[in-house]
Amino acid sequence: MQKLLIKGKRKLSGKISISGSKNATLPILAASILAEQVKLSNVPLVKDIFTMTDLLKFIGLKVKVEKKKNLIELTNYKKKINTLAPYKLVKTMRAGVLVLGSILTKYKKAKVSLPGGCAIGTRPVDLHLFALKKLGAKIKIKDGYILADAKKGLKGTKIRFPSISVGATENAILAAFNAKGETILSNCAIEPEIQDLITFLNKLGGKIKIFGRKIIIKRQRFLRKNINHRIIFDRIEAGTYLVAGILAGGKIKINDVKPRILKCEIDILKKMGAKIKIGKSSIEVKKNKVLKKLNISTKPYPGFPTDLQAQLMVLMTQAEGLSKIKENIFENRFMHVPELKRMGAKIEIKNKTAFIFGPTKLTGAEVMATDLRASVSLVLAGLVAENRTILNRIYHLDRGYESLENKLKNCKAKIKRY
Ligand code: EPZ
Repeated sequence: MQKLLIKGKRKLSGKISISGSKNATLPILAASILAEQVKLSNVPLVKDIFTMTDLLKFIGLKVKVEKKKNLIELTNYKKKINTLAPYKLVKTMRAGVLVLGSILTKYKKAKVSLPGGCAIGTRPVDLHLFALKKLGAKIKIKDGYILADAKKGLKGTKIRFPSISVGATENAILAAFNAKGETILSNCAIEPEIQDLITFLNKLGGKIKIFGRKIIIKRQRFLRKNINHRIIFDRIEAGTYLVAGILAGGKIKINDVKPRILKCEIDILKKMGAKIKIGKSSIEVKKNKVLKKLNISTKPYPGFPTDLQAQLMVLMTQAEGLSKIKENIFENRFMHVPELKRMGAKIEIKNKTAFIFGPTKLTGAEVMATDLRASVSLVLAGLVAENRTILNRIYHLDRGYESLENKLKNCKAKIKRY
């Protein structure tokens, strides 16, 4: 298995171009089942995207990837497709469950593997199924599969989510797309990735509007046959490199971003004392001598994202005093803590809250990645630690970060894969 070797204490400086968002691409790929001809640009070439395109090919779509241009073309002229999403393709990438809504609303039946849990939590899909049942689907769970049926088609209705879920909101939007009449979803997740999915579906001819946490979907008779769409930038990748710049800059400038979408993250980094320069589509940060402690809680957008919790924790190990992070979204998202402690971090966990004491000198160690964002937090720690850090199981990293080591090498980091 491949590893990453990171030499610490190197001053980073340079420019980083942010890739397209993995978490916007995945639901939009699922939505491509509803179209005939789709061209997606600014697609991040990361493992999860290829797992999803493998699933779409298995279902029956034609998929062409132009790696050099970060382009994916999908075509689906089929009146009938394979409505099965098998365990082998859903288990490694739980967003595969998002094809459920698309297949059901267009082909009236679907058999999709339950995605199962992962390192950060059990990751149930009860809220997804709750919404589909409200739209009139008959749902059965058998042998680890979701059997969904809607012989007469789905019917629009009012649905209030008992709790906020990104995936359940996405699946409900996809299922409601062809449901008769109007569907009003409330207490929805409204992440920028969901807004990008809605932009894509409206290009397809949909009529979907967001009002606060309410999303209204009106079925449209005529859909466009083919559409082009440029995937929104990856705000989590952007936030990750902002932390890298504050930890180990010189000066890091990230490009191809929409700063207003990162408002919460920028405010929090400024509260910790970071010097941040905002451009039209760029953000510049540099290392700060003194970082201030801070208490934060992870929340659904527009709050502080759980996907940046591990990265911010590394920054807090260098802040003066006791910082706190309350993880409200996932039940087991502190897997990076034991590894950071092996590098010298002073962190204690109590009731879903991490207490981080700083500043502490980190020293390089051999560490293990456990999930996508935990793995990148260990890269950040390696950048600021004394000596060398070896990161194992970097397949976790490859699921969601495009050309990470090249982007960091271009900013003078000493990092190599072997
Ligand atoms: C999406 O996961 C993202 N993945 C996650 O990013 C992200 O951390 C998460 O949203 C929260 O922002 C993709 O977009 C592919 P949820 P999702 O449904 O949709 C519970 C990354 O690192 N829940 O908003 O699975 C759930 O257990 C990944 O890129 C139910 O109880 O997240 C969790 O505690 C990691 N029942 C909470 O809701 C359900 O039916 C939020 O989960 C669904 C979710």
